[in-house]
Amino acid sequence: MVDIARPGLARRLDRAKTAAVATMGIKVRALRDAGHDVVSLVLGEPDFATPANAIEAAHQAALRGDTKYPPYDGTRALKEAVQRQFRRDHGLEYALDEILVSNGAKQILFNALMATVNEGDEVVIPVPCWFAYTLMTRLVGGEPVLVSCPQNNGFRLRPEDLEAAITPRTKWLMLNYPNNPTGAVASRAELAALAEVLLRHPHVWILSDDMYEHLYYSEERYATLAEVEPRLRDRTLTVSGVSKTYAMTGWRIGFAGGPKDLIRGMGAVQGHATAGVSTVGQAAAVAAMDGPQEGVAERTAIYRRRRDYVVDALNACPGISCHRPEGAFYVFPDIAGCIGKTTAGGRLLNTDEDFANALLEEQHVALTHGAAFGMSPYLRLSYATDEASLAKGMERIAAFTHALR
Ligand SMILES: Cc1ncc(COP(=O)(O)O)c(C=O)c1O
Repeated sequence: MVDIARPGLARRLDRAKTAAVATMGIKVRALRDAGHDVVSLVLGEPDFATPANAIEAAHQAALRGDTKYPPYDGTRALKEAVQRQFRRDHGLEYALDEILVSNGAKQILFNALMATVNEGDEVVIPVPCWFAYTLMTRLVGGEPVLVSCPQNNGFRLRPEDLEAAITPRTKWLMLNYPNNPTGAVASRAELAALAEVLLRHPHVWILSDDMYEHLYYSEERYATLAEVEPRLRDRTLTVSGVSKTYAMTGWRIGFAGGPKDLIRGMGAVQGHATAGVSTVGQAAAVAAMDGPQEGVAERTAIYRRRRDYVVDALNACPGISCHRPEGAFYVFPDIAGCIGKTTAGGRLLNTDEDFANALLEEQHVALTHGAAFGMSPYLRLSYATDEASLAKGMERIAAFTHALR
C-alpha cells in the first residue's frame, strides 16, 4: 500500500492508503506502456457488455430530455424498480423513503459510514474483506475491528468470533456474501446463527453488502440477512447494485434499502457531496433490472465454467491450494507452499506480496496479494476475464510455480 498523506492535505488522509488493487493497476499500465503483454487478473469488473436494452433506455432518456438535476435520493422509476427487485429476490418490502440510490454501492457504503460513525466508533469487519471497508472506516474516524475468518470455516464468519468482537463501541457489522475476495457464501442457517448473536446486541447495525448476490453457483437461492431474520430488518442496511450483475460498472448505480432515519441521514451526506445520480444511468438501471433476466443466468453459467477451470489449473501448480467458491468471480488460493522458495529470476518469496510482485515482473501476470484483503499468504484472482487471457495467465502461473526452488 502507498501512503497518500502529503503536507497540506487534511490529517484524515493520514488514515487512508491507496488500495493495493489501484497500485497494481499502475504497475500493469507501466509494463503495458513498455510493450509487454500483461495478463491482468486484478479487477473485479465483468468483461461482458452492458445489456443492449439498458443502453437503449439511457439513449431514450437523454432524447426525451431526462437530463436535468435528478432528485438527490434517486428517481421514482428506479426506486420502484429497486422495490420490485427486493420483493422478487428476497421478499423484502421497503417504502420509497426507505430506499436510496447512489453513485455505485461504494457511495452507499461511504454515505452509511459518514452518516453514523463518530470518532472512535468500531466497525466489525470479517476478513478477508474488500479493502474499501477498512479504508472508509478510517477515513470517517472509525476503528476497524478485523475478525479473522479462516479457510477451515470456508472463510465465513463464526458466531463465537462475532460475539467476541462486539463491544459497547461497536457501530456496524459489515457482511459481504458472496464475498470479495473469497467468493464464500453463508447459508441461511449460518446467517441465522449470526443473527442470534446480533439480536443480543441491539446497538449494532448491520450492513449486508450483497453486490454479488446474483453471481451464485449453488441451486439454493441467495438469502440476505434481513430476510433470514426479520427482527433485524430495522437495523440492517441491505446493499446491492447493477455493476456486477449486469456488467454496468461504469454507469455508477448502487442502491440500498434500510430504516427510514438511516436512509435520510445517508441522503443528507449524499446531498452535500454529489447530489443525485446521473439520470441516464438511472434509466439504464431500470431497464436492466426490469428487463429480461436470461442474460444474468447465461453469464453466471460462464463464470461457473471459468471458476472450475481456474480452480483446477491452480490446484495443479506446486505450492498452491485453491478452494472452489460458491459465488462472485474471485478465487483466493492459499500459497503457503510457495513461501520461502526462490523464483527462476532469483527472488526470495517471503510474503504473498513478494509472490505477486515477482509473478508480475517475471511472467507478466497481475493479481492481488492476500494481505491487501487482510489474510496471508493468499492471492486473489478475478476470473471476470475472457477465457483466452485466463488460459494464458494459468500457463504462466504454472511455469512460475514449477520453476520455484
Ligand atoms: C464487495 C463489494 N461491494 C461493493 C462494491 C462496489 O460496487 P459499485 O461498482 O456499485 O460501487 C464492490 C466493487 O468491487 C465490491 O467488491
